[in-house]
Amino acid sequence: LAKISAAIGFGYLLGSLNSSIIVSRFWGIDVRQHGSKSAGLTNVLRTLGVPAAILVLVFDVLKGVVACLFGDWLGIFVQTGDAVDSLGALLAGAAVVVGHNWPIFFKFRGGKGALTAAAVMIMLSWSTALMSLGVFATVILLTRYVSLGTILAVVFFSTYTVLFSSSHTIYFNVTVILLACIIVFKHRANVVRLMSGSENKLRF
Ligand code: G3P
Repeated sequence: LAKISAAIGFGYLLGSLNSSIIVSRFWGIDVRQHGSKSAGLTNVLRTLGVPAAILVLVFDVLKGVVACLFGDWLGIFVQTGDAVDSLGALLAGAAVVVGHNWPIFFKFRGGKGALTAAAVMIMLSWSTALMSLGVFATVILLTRYVSLGTILAVVFFSTYTVLFSSSHTIYFNVTVILLACIIVFKHRANVVRLMSGSENKLRF
């Protein structure tokens, strides 16, 4: 129980260090008052430009990677049939996304968790994550909607895992479904804008 609490607690606190809010303060603003009001990479890019976005990109990817490595290091494993997964990495990986989205240090108003979740997905299953990145890139190239690319990529990741990947435990499948639900839920305002045709397009 101590290790499970450590995985969740560490992941949540690390996730709560929302780099978009921290970086935007260096630029003298709170990104949550600009653009889509989301504390995430897309909105930092939109509001502050490339240098600030690069800082957020590096920090958020590291956040997901470090959470999963810490969870792995705890050494809690679960087994279903022949499949074995690291419960620590699954819990810390889910918790880091929850912390990013509802950060304890910033009044529980954070981002949408896509980038941090992408890093977690790479750590959990890099081959499926690569295919999801392909979905993400293709949708953005075709439509220039980052939100649509994100939603379809996470839905692809969880659907592919559950339907076609037999090498994982039920704990793994439940975690990736939970991550997809969290991210789609956080994009609900984007979905409304997408359906009404008023969603922001990525500009180069
Ligand atoms: O990951 C967030 C992205 O999918 C959408 O961001 O700021 O356009 O709501 P935003």
